[in-house]
This record gives sequence, structure tokens and C-alpha cells, in this order.
Amino acid sequence: PNPHLADGPAGLALDGVALADIARQFGTPTYVYSARALRENFASYQQALAGRKHRVCYAMKANSNLSILKLLAGMGAGFDIVSAGELARVLAAGGDPAGIVFSGVGKQVAEIEAALNAGGSGIGCFNVESATELARIEQVAARLGKRAPVSFRVNPDVDPKTHPYISTGLKDNKFGVAFGTAIDLYRRAAASAHLKVVGIDCHIGSQIIDPAPFMEALDKMLDLVEQLEREGIVIEHFDLGGGLGITYRDEAPPTPAQYLAPILARFDARGHGSKTFMLEPGRSIVGNAGLLLSTVQVIKQAASKRFCIVDAAMNDYMRPAMYGAYSEIVEVAPQGDAAVHDVVGPVCESGDWLGRDRLLAVAEGDLLALLSAGAYGMSMASNYNTRGRAAEVLVDAGQVRLIRRRETIDMQLADELAALQAR
Ligand code: LLP
Repeated sequence: PNPHLADGPAGLALDGVALADIARQFGTPTYVYSARALRENFASYQQALAGRKHRVCYAMKANSNLSILKLLAGMGAGFDIVSAGELARVLAAGGDPAGIVFSGVGKQVAEIEAALNAGGSGIGCFNVESATELARIEQVAARLGKRAPVSFRVNPDVDPKTHPYISTGLKDNKFGVAFGTAIDLYRRAAASAHLKVVGIDCHIGSQIIDPAPFMEALDKMLDLVEQLEREGIVIEHFDLGGGLGITYRDEAPPTPAQYLAPILARFDARGHGSKTFMLEPGRSIVGNAGLLLSTVQVIKQAASKRFCIVDAAMNDYMRPAMYGAYSEIVEVAPQGDAAVHDVVGPVCESGDWLGRDRLLAVAEGDLLALLSAGAYGMSMASNYNTRGRAAEVLVDAGQVRLIRRRETIDMQLADELAALQAR
């Protein structure tokens, strides 16, 4: 799953930097990212869209580290945000506000205000998800004397055939506006002096391997676009959302070029080629650019199971506990005889596992790398069990840079100590 990992004299190395050296220098658990993989992944989208008006808005919920955002902003990325916090991160990383689309079903007044004011002229577009939100945006824009750029996130009612927790485009999902009501909402927006219709968007789910649901969504959305155009409501951009899957185990997702070729061919054939084509990929940009490095603390034999207890846990990487998700776990430098282990963390929950029934040649003190951890890893981390969040490092051209230091106990306690002292 990670193309930049190779065996070296000191065990596994990422882009030429030994993981053992990283562990020695920064400790564990540590997220390790490859700048080269990030660049390649982003470039593969840009290349697939070259020669047409386009914008790739990185869905930063997948990984919102400022250094990663800065790297992508430097390549011309736009950003898909879902909160004022994410907006602040894009601005802090030097991203262009005009390249931001704002998704999410519960945008608050203060968030809408911040987005309209961002960088003076505001974000690129609100992906509106309800009639209430439309009215709210209109009100805030009127109060600020602005015209808010809007697109509707339309729910195309397509089954992406992925995990139910990450399917988002079915008609009984909370996301988007129902297909049947979209026309009316567009009419309302088009008639408002404080709103400007700029686009249309959908997002059907995540970790999608089969490209067929994307094509189905495209066709339905274009039907709607054409209906709008017959009424004189013209849109400038078409946003197909994110969702392209990655290889965690043996999945064989199409590359961005393979996934987009038939989509763009249809888009053009239906006469929309002059519109700006947009995407909101997250996982496929960062997922396989990162791994989580941990140290084996204890090997423990239970009645019929052998546990490999590492210093990373569900608070660091929640996907196995939350979705039963699989990630490869590999020894940095295998030693001794291999045995089947459940790789688990020290958190007080039986759901705190990272991998089950894994054949590993490991001893206490050894390093393990959990692969494909770049997306929805650190961004979903918590302090459960008062565990500090992991460090993050970026490997770039043979150099390792700390891009977020390990959270200390002082950092964790600061606000509560202040509250105690204020009494
Ligand atoms: N656009 C919107 C509106 C989204 O809601 C999402 C992800 C994306 C784009 C990016 O999708 P991607 O390209 O990453 O598939 N925590 C889950 C994934 C949740 C995805 C939520 N929405 C996981 O770890 O699998």
C-alpha cells in the first residue's frame, strides 16, 4: 500500500530514511508522511484534469496538518472545509480563500460569517445542504453587505457500495438536499440579491473502489444541471466530490486518471466541457502517503490468543475500532520466528485493536509500522485515557522534519489547571 517504503540495511525506510532512525529521534507513536507521495498523489489528479478548467479541493478532514496543507497549497490545491476551525487552518497554511469550498450539514452563523470574510473577499463557494442553511447564508450575507457564492450539495441517491458509516449519497443519509427539491432551492438562490449561484456538487461516499456509482451520480447530476439551464440558471462549476478509495489490503482502485477518463468523456459529450470540473478528494491524496510507527511494549499470551501490545492505540488510529477497518502492519526489522498476533493498544477497551490475526516476527521493544494511515488517522485522534496525541513528521528529499510535536501532559492539562487555579 505504500509505494515509497523499501527494505534498507536498518530495516524499513521511507524515501530513504530509516524508520528506526525516526523512532530514535522522535519517539513513538509517530505518524510519518512522505512528501513525495503527497506530491505524486496530488499531481495525478492535476494531470488527469490538465487542459480543462478545474480545481482539486483537498478534503482536509482526512489530514489537516498545516505543513501538509501548505505543501498542497503550494501545488495549487483548493480545500474542502467543514468548519471554521478548518478554515482557520487553511488560512494559517497560506491557502487561497477563493479556492475553498465549505461543506457540512450544520454550518453555524459564526462560521458562515468567517467564511464570507475570509481574506477580505471570502471563500469560493458554500456547498449548501438544506433550505435552512440557504436562508441563514442569505441573512448573514445581507447583514455583511455581501453576495455569497453558493452551490447545492445534491444527494443523487446512489449506492457507493462501501461501509455504511461512510456512504453519504443515499436518500436516507443526512447529507445534501434531496434530488427532487434541488430545483426549487436553485430558483430561490437565483432570485436572491445576496446569493450567487456558482455551482453544483455531490459526494456519495468514501473508500469507493468501483467507479460505476460515480458515473451514475454524474449522469443524475448532469440531468439536473440541464434542467436548471433550461430555466436560465447557469452554473460555472461542477463538483463530483471525493471518495476514490485506496489500497489497504488487496483493493485495486482505479488511478485518478483511470477513474476520471470515462467521467470526463461523458461530461464533455453531454456538452459541459467548458465548465470548471471540481473534485474533493481526501483519502486518495494522503492515505497511502502516511504510516503510524509504534513500539511493541508487551507480548502477552492469553488462552488461545497472542497479543502484541504496542504504544499506539485506538485514540491514535480509530479506524479499526470504529469501522473494523484493515491496515497492513509490518515489522520494521523482523526478527525471530513469526507467530500470529492480535496487535492492540494499551487503552482500556476490548475494541482497542489495530490488527487481528497478523503473522508477525516481533519481540518486545521492536518497531511496527501500520500502513495507509495518512488519512483519517491523526485527524481523528483523541486524548482518550489521557494519552497525548502522537508526533507527526514529514520525510522530504531524505530529510525528516517534525511537523507537530508530541502532545505533552502539560499541554493536555493546561486548560483544566487554569480552571482549578481560577477558583
Ligand atoms: N467531500 C465531502 C463533502 C466529504 O464528506 C468527504 C469525506 C470528502 C469530500 C472526502 O472523501 P474521501 O476522498 O476522503 O473519501 N472517517 C472515515 C471517512 C469519512 C469520510 C467523510 N467525508 C474513514 O476513516 O474511513
